[in-house]
Amino acid sequence: MAKLAKKRNEDPNKYLIGIGQEKMAVIPPTQDAVTLAANAADTILTEEDKEKIDLVLVATESGVDNSKSSAAYVSELLGLKHNIRTLELKQACYAATAGIQLAKGHISLNPHKKALVIGTDIARYGLKTPGEPTQGGGAVAMVISADPAVLALEDASSYYAKDIMDFWRPLSQTEAMVDGKYSANVYLEFFEQVFHDFQEQTGLTLRDFTALLFHLPYTKQGLKALRLAVENIDPTQATKYFNEFEASRKYNKLTGNLYTGSLYLSLLSLLENSDNLQAGDRLGLFSYGSGAQGEFFSGILQENYRQHLTNKTTSLLNKRQEVSVAEYEKLFNSVLTNEKNRTLDTTSDPATYVLTGIKDFKRQYQKK
Ligand code: COA
Repeated sequence: MAKLAKKRNEDPNKYLIGIGQEKMAVIPPTQDAVTLAANAADTILTEEDKEKIDLVLVATESGVDNSKSSAAYVSELLGLKHNIRTLELKQACYAATAGIQLAKGHISLNPHKKALVIGTDIARYGLKTPGEPTQGGGAVAMVISADPAVLALEDASSYYAKDIMDFWRPLSQTEAMVDGKYSANVYLEFFEQVFHDFQEQTGLTLRDFTALLFHLPYTKQGLKALRLAVENIDPTQATKYFNEFEASRKYNKLTGNLYTGSLYLSLLSLLENSDNLQAGDRLGLFSYGSGAQGEFFSGILQENYRQHLTNKTTSLLNKRQEVSVAEYEKLFNSVLTNEKNRTLDTTSDPATYVLTGIKDFKRQYQKK
């Protein structure tokens, strides 16, 4: 990000501190929302999961087709059964949360089944735009079951929706349009609204949470929300929340915005980087999707949750190859769009699932 800042004639500290991003994931043209989702799910699914999954919800605002759902491609690539429901969900960065809540309802009715929820996106604001330093991409896959290994979702939830234009992407565009300052302010308003409602509804207060997690379009945004949450408590108590926040933004600082997956990458970051968490702790999660939808909900860390963490994220991130600003710009401009036919060279893409091109407007995927 410091190198990008210099090229854009900005002070590196604006990106590193002011926006709170250290690195940006640059997604090669051989990966799209479908392959990112399949690659994420592939690392966590067991044979038992595959047998029990009968609902696949893929949340994305980087969909590859206006009609066919990416969940159809993903389920087939993963070799899931055919007697399942597959669906794509859209509400900007919020949709994976909707997926989790819908999956929770499904599992409540069918406790012997499992659901796969994936948030997968490539955040594109455009070269040399104010949103450029907040770009990124990636996917997070989660299994929802009646017997959770890591986090048990609690029943209470507070949500709030309003029709506004803070961030949107018209059908013809490959880059988002954003009213950045407005969006940042609405995000904070929605957080205060749903966090307040949640506390009224449940009788819980900030003290009942070990940590608060936020959708992180860039990590400074979550810091601003946390400052609002702790403004009326003792500063020494507040330190605890800021320390957990640092653990929760570690991975997001290294990837940039994942849109739908952002809050859940932050959850993973907290779980793998905090030394203070223990079973029984309550985590509060704030999900926000422009347009706009907000939701606050909570979960309890489960006994032995640490045994279920793969702790592979850091090595995965460290395996990435740095590209120069010129190479990044070239990769950015070579994304597949509305072409009828094109073949992509996948030899330098180490991922299991890759996009090999497009034939007669049909995307071609391959498991390596
Ligand atoms: N050292 C430290 N901090 C610096 C700095 C420096 N040298 N220079 C600037 N900053 C700080 C600013 O004070 C500001 O902090 P603040 O937000 O706490 O006030 C921050 O860096 C950003 O600077 P700003 O001048 O506001 O940047 P910008 O006008 O280029 O826009 C965004 C920043 C985030 C609004 C822009 O990147 C954007 O629109 N991103 C899209 C994100 C989005 O809206 N996503 C959807 C929401 S969910």
